[in-house]
Amino acid sequence: MRILFLGDVVGRSGRKAVRHHLPSMVDRWKLDFVVVNGENAAGGFGITEKIFQELLDAGADCITTGNHAFDQKEALVFAERQERFLRPLNYPPQTPGRGANIYTARSGARVLVINVMGQLFMTALDDPIAAVEREIAAMPLGRDCDAIIVDFHAEATSEKQVMAAFLDGRASLVVGTHTHVPTADYRIQPGGTAMMTDIGMCGDYDSIIGMQKDEPLHRAVTKISSGRLGPAMEEATLSGIAVDVDDTTGLARKVAAVRLGPHLERSVPTFWTDED
Ligand SMILES: [Fe+2]
Ligand SMILES: [Fe+2]
Repeated sequence: MRILFLGDVVGRSGRKAVRHHLPSMVDRWKLDFVVVNGENAAGGFGITEKIFQELLDAGADCITTGNHAFDQKEALVFAERQERFLRPLNYPPQTPGRGANIYTARSGARVLVINVMGQLFMTALDDPIAAVEREIAAMPLGRDCDAIIVDFHAEATSEKQVMAAFLDGRASLVVGTHTHVPTADYRIQPGGTAMMTDIGMCGDYDSIIGMQKDEPLHRAVTKISSGRLGPAMEEATLSGIAVDVDDTTGLARKVAAVRLGPHLERSVPTFWTDED
């Protein structure tokens, strides 16, 4: 099974890049399942239902989020009816929507996707480890599903590595999102679970984590806020991870960083493109 996960889409420029690149990636790489983190897709803050649909139309099968999940208030409503929309699993129980769901991939495989948020330097939520454990125990890999993908939306690299190690051998892929900066440590762990501490963003990297530089610079220099943060609008670079998953075990066989655009060094999964 061929899985692609793209990091936080930031604003119009990020959306444009997803619309431009994703449909041909799905075709060329014969992708079976695509996850996109959409928490910053609407002007950097949250996601509207229209944008959610736009990301699905481009080829995403599931949209995950994070601390910005409900910045656009309409998400409180469509989170309930849109089964392909996930918000962090460890929000309080009364929060609209769901934090995990099972989907059918293009190959017919059953894919469990879990979106969960970290605790370090983030809004205090329930224990992410316990929340993930409950989901995975209820639907183990190889018995009730053919692949498990976890989006751990967290700030601290150490906490994300803990989650990846905790799930090694029991999930196909554990990715970190939220920092908007890709790490270089994508790999397959000893138990067979692919991981990457943070997969970066789909946005304009000539920015401060996707936002125009002027306001963060002004705040840093003067210690005074002079306005709202707005997304950087020049051409975006897509950033994410590609994983080839064994159809029998649900564990990862190959993994590669994906980077396409003007800013970061280009990287694509040659293990798929070489076959063409
Ligand atoms: Fe984000
Ligand atoms: Fe975030």
